[in-house]
Amino acid sequence: MNETPSQSPSIIAIDGPAASGKSTIGLRLAEALGYIFFDTGVMYRAVTWLALERGIDVHDEAAVTALAEEMHIDVAPASKSDGRACDVLVDGRDITWETRGRKVDANVSIVAAYRGVRRALSQQQRRVGQRGKIVMVGRDIGTVVLPDADLKIYLDATAEERARRRYDEIVARGGSTDYDAILKRVIERDRIDSTRDVAPLKAADDAVVLDSDKLTADEVFEQILALVK
Ligand code: CDP
Repeated sequence: MNETPSQSPSIIAIDGPAASGKSTIGLRLAEALGYIFFDTGVMYRAVTWLALERGIDVHDEAAVTALAEEMHIDVAPASKSDGRACDVLVDGRDITWETRGRKVDANVSIVAAYRGVRRALSQQQRRVGQRGKIVMVGRDIGTVVLPDADLKIYLDATAEERARRRYDEIVARGGSTDYDAILKRVIERDRIDSTRDVAPLKAADDAVVLDSDKLTADEVFEQILALVK
């Protein structure tokens, strides 16, 4: 009997809580496979940044939703090697680092819980994802955006470990920060993300759950690569 050669999964979804390493691993995996890397979190961050920039109250669901529906967000491959995984442009302006700021971090989960915001952004994400040869990372990729993804991974770790990694990342970039404040924000974001009504953070039934607490980034990468090949 002839054996059909197994094919690499074309659509790979990586979901998980805040700072679980999805972007680092996702980018590395996409580069190894020659796939597109798409970090969907940056879109929610871009909407939050623009709302704050324009003085819109993030608790005003109608105003934030209208903004998400009308604004133009571009997510493009990184144009600079300054630690970014991709470029984030809003109406042509590069806001990549602005979206990583403390204020966006503290407000993004409020914005991401709005049904209309999610509808606007997930439609765009689905359109890109369905073209295939993509590694897409977020909270609801395997459950809502691309439920037919060929491979779904749920990357987890304790809040303490994730906060430590985010702390190291910021310090490595030359920034100054406070571990306890990061831990608090990580826990609060997870709470809002996993208890919201629309597309809450959870592992898809058919996802491979990877607990990365005791693993290095290289080990996580190797384990995921083994699932792909
Ligand atoms: O990089 P980090 O894990 O800290 O966060 P992110 O992936 O940039 O996502 C920022 C926020 O956007 C999350 O806390 C969620 O509130 C929201 N998000 C979402 O709701 N759905 C997604 N597919 C991606 C992000």
